[in-house]
Amino acid sequence: MPEEKEELINRIFNESCLDTMARMPENFIDLTITSPPYNVGIKYDGYNDSRHPEEYFDFIKKVASGLYRVTKKGGRLCLNVPFIGNSYLVGKSQELQFYPSPFIDIFSTTNWIFRDFFVWIKSSEPENPNIFSGNSTTWGSWLSPSCPYARCFLEAILIFHKEDKTLQEKGISDITKEEFLEYTKNAWYFPVETNREHPAPYPLELPKRCMKLFSWVNAIVYDPFAGSGTTPVACVKNKRRYIASETSEGYYKRAVWRVRDEEAVISLPFG
Ligand SMILES: C[S@@+](CC[C@H](N)C(=O)[O-])C[C@H]1O[C@@H](n2cnc3c(N)ncnc32)[C@H](O)[C@@H]1O
Repeated sequence: MPEEKEELINRIFNESCLDTMARMPENFIDLTITSPPYNVGIKYDGYNDSRHPEEYFDFIKKVASGLYRVTKKGGRLCLNVPFIGNSYLVGKSQELQFYPSPFIDIFSTTNWIFRDFFVWIKSSEPENPNIFSGNSTTWGSWLSPSCPYARCFLEAILIFHKEDKTLQEKGISDITKEEFLEYTKNAWYFPVETNREHPAPYPLELPKRCMKLFSWVNAIVYDPFAGSGTTPVACVKNKRRYIASETSEGYYKRAVWRVRDEEAVISLPFG
């Protein structure tokens, strides 16, 4: 049974996103920003990240359908997934497939309209984009043409919308001219998150860019895979309302603390 909207807003739920979405009414969410578990063998608290691909993609399909139901017409979805682009990595494990194409296929078959594609270049020095951060040891042969492979310094941010490309409601925009000029480029340069209290967090910069580019102030933003709570923290910082789900109790508590700290700062007279 859908719950009263107000009871869901500005809350993080320690449960599966499928359960949270089942409690949401239709046409409720303005924007989803998330990165799902990728099925690449990351050691999460209580979640198996090495499933058979069929089981994994069945789950992603259920999430995609649930998100479609709860999103407003004209609402958007920003999905951060990695590039797994070479046969060296894919050949090492039967669980791995080339990414991001399966995500584009699955979300498209659940009626989401694929809209845009941003590439996040993991640069540790934004003013010097050639200084990369990330995993840099996947080559097959060293200083030799025998069997070299590309090292991956990129992640994808796939953008979808529901039914209409234009937001259906009017609102207040808070994006500056400089931000708009920067964020509308399809290559984004910013560093990875260095705080390792979660095994796979994204930096605040990622949800900040997505929410400023794709939603009005006060929009309802959902993160079905909240992890350490980066999306809800970005919501508090940028005056959006948040809803988030996370199955791990440890990550959930971490997310709640981070959000409370941020809310406390914002409520200070000069916050
Ligand atoms: C890639 S991480 C998200 C990290 C997050 N963006 C951050 O910045 O901390 C994916 C998260 O999904 C959680 N998870 C796995 N299955 C879930 C489910 N069914 N519902 C909600 N969360 C789930 C995992 O515990 C993990 O913390």
